[in-house]
Order: sequence, then C-alpha cells, then structure tokens
Amino acid sequence: MSIVQVLKLEKSFGDFKAVNKISFEVEKGEIFGVLGPNGAGKSTTLNMLATLIEPTSGTAVINGFDIKKDTKKVQEIIGLCTSSTKFFWDFNAIEILNYYAMLYDLDSGARKRRIASLIERFEISEFQNKKFAELSTGMKQKIALAKSLINKPKVWFLDEPTNGLDLEVSKTVRKVIRDIVKEENTTVLLTSHHLSEVEELSKRIALINKGELVVVGSIKQVKDGLNFFDTIYFTLAKQSDASQLEFIKKIEGFEYIRVEETRVLVRARSPQKLIGKLINGLENKNVKIYDLEIKRASLEDAFLKLIKGGSGSK
Ligand SMILES: Nc1ncnc2c1ncn2[C@@H]1O[C@H](COP(=O)(O)OP(=O)(O)OP(=O)(O)O)[C@@H](O)[C@H]1O
Ligand SMILES: [Mg+2]
Repeated sequence: MSIVQVLKLEKSFGDFKAVNKISFEVEKGEIFGVLGPNGAGKSTTLNMLATLIEPTSGTAVINGFDIKKDTKKVQEIIGLCTSSTKFFWDFNAIEILNYYAMLYDLDSGARKRRIASLIERFEISEFQNKKFAELSTGMKQKIALAKSLINKPKVWFLDEPTNGLDLEVSKTVRKVIRDIVKEENTTVLLTSHHLSEVEELSKRIALINKGELVVVGSIKQVKDGLNFFDTIYFTLAKQSDASQLEFIKKIEGFEYIRVEETRVLVRARSPQKLIGKLINGLENKNVKIYDLEIKRASLEDAFLKLIKGGSGSK
C-alpha cells in the first residue's frame, strides 16, 4: 500500500489557488520527484504534507495518519528539509542537533547515537564546534539535512536539497539520500530544479504547473507517453555512399533517419537493442563511419514539452 496518499489537496491564498485539488500516491521506499517551474506549487504541497501549513480543502494520509486529523502523529514520523533552513546563529552543529533531538521522545542514549551517526554520515565533525553563522552554505545545508533526519523519519520531504550547493556537496547529498532510503527504509519526496538529479534518484515523478497536476508516473512512462525517441548520431567516412543507408529503414525499431551530408541521425525508442544490427548492416554494406553517439531523450525535454505544450524534442 502507498505510504503517502495525497487526496484532492488544495491551498488557496485569498482568491489565488496555489495548489488545485491534486491527488497522487507515493510507494514505500521510493524517491518520488515533484517537479514544476517556479511558482508551480511544489513547496506549498510539501509544506501541507509536512503539516507546516493547513490545506484549504482535501487532505493526505501519511503512513495511515491523516495530516489534518492526526497532525501530531504525522509530525513524529516525517522530516522536512528546505534549502533555506535557518537556525540559531550562535549555536554550533552539536547544539542544534541536540536541541531538535530533545523535541522527540528519545532517551538520552538513543539521542546521542543518532546524532553521532548523522555527524558521521554528513562528515560534520570537522566543523561541529563552529557557530552556525560562520559556516559555508554547504556546511549549513548538511546540518539542516541531519536535523531533518533526527527522528529517523518514515517519510523525508526534501525541498530543493541541493539548491546553491557545489558539485561535491551535491554529490554527497545525493549519496546520503540513496543510503538513507536503503538503510532506513525511508520514503522520500523530493523537489528539484536539477532534472538530471531527479532522473538519477527517482523512478517516478509528479509534474505540477500553476497548481495543477500535469502528469504522474514513471519517468519512462512520461517520456514514452510523449512519444520521445532516443537519437543515434554517426558520421560517415568520406568515401562512404549515403545511398547505402536505405537498409536502416527496414530494421524494425528505427523510426526515422535523416542524412545531412556525412552526418546521419537515426531515431529509435530503445537504440541500445538495435545498435548491433545497425553496426552489422553498416559493415555488410561496407559503409565506414568515424564516430557514433547515442543521445537519450532527457527528462528536460519531457518537462519542457509538458509545460509549454510544445511539439516534442527537436
Ligand atoms: N504565503 C503565501 N501567500 C500568498 N501566496 C503564496 C504564499 N506561498 C506561496 N504563494 C504563491 O503560491 C504559488 C506557489 O508557490 P510555491 O512556493 O509552492 O511554488 P514552488 O513550486 O515551490 O516554486 P519554486 O520552484 O520557485 O520554489 C506562487 O505563486 C506563490 O507566490
Ligand atoms: Mg519551492
């Protein structure tokens, strides 16, 4: 059964509907991506699920608890981290983590063990005694992430967790997300503007635009539904004859071929499976090529098409 059920969730600010009756479900143990352009309603959705703001109508059920009726229970089993978490500036990492750990019903042994393991996981010890105000953005974000994991949440909400971080810290954060999901059987709802990050971490996504749910499903389903093809490019050696390429059209699976002088573009849904046939065919026809490259349709292509209602990847 789904661990998160979002049921016609709506949030209005005055007359403005920031989130318009959206419904979707998240399975236990998955990293679910919530995507959408600026102002789409992603943070508002996560903030409602994390019980920071009240829905105007609709609700959600998290691990069997209703966010409206069982708010306290929900708070005990979730964690939320945003990219702009602020703490007491004069506190250091240990003091901050201790402070938040006290809010949960943990005995002092369990509290100490949890904090120690988070400090290790996020490599916080090297700056654990520095005041929060004196830390870099990356260090601050590590503390914010650790704080949101203090209670070993069953559902971990991450609102742009790598926003503003350098490549190395972002990589560490992605690794920790994967490790936590694996080791603690946590479920993650993640928003990000880095689509490659979502593609790396998530199998399933929801796309929100102007408060409306545009699509929900696996990244593959979303791409397939939009009729996206991967592309193979290759360059012919000079002496090769482009008229010899007609055979490609007869190979089942290749949908489209375009030849521009020596540059050839072939579209297919699963080119990995067809590449052997292509190479064999080229050899049989004695067509020599210099290079060959497979370019996969990206989530970015799908995203832009869905948001702009465009006509697909170029
Ligand atoms: N407290 C508020 N009062 C009024 N309007 C709000 C409030 N919070 C959010 N909004 C509006 O609701 C809409 C959705 O905002 P939200 O922060 O959820 O978007 P988002 O998808 O998280 O965008 P971003 O990618 O920029 O973080 C925006 O138009 C925003 O201006
Ligand atoms: Mg946001």
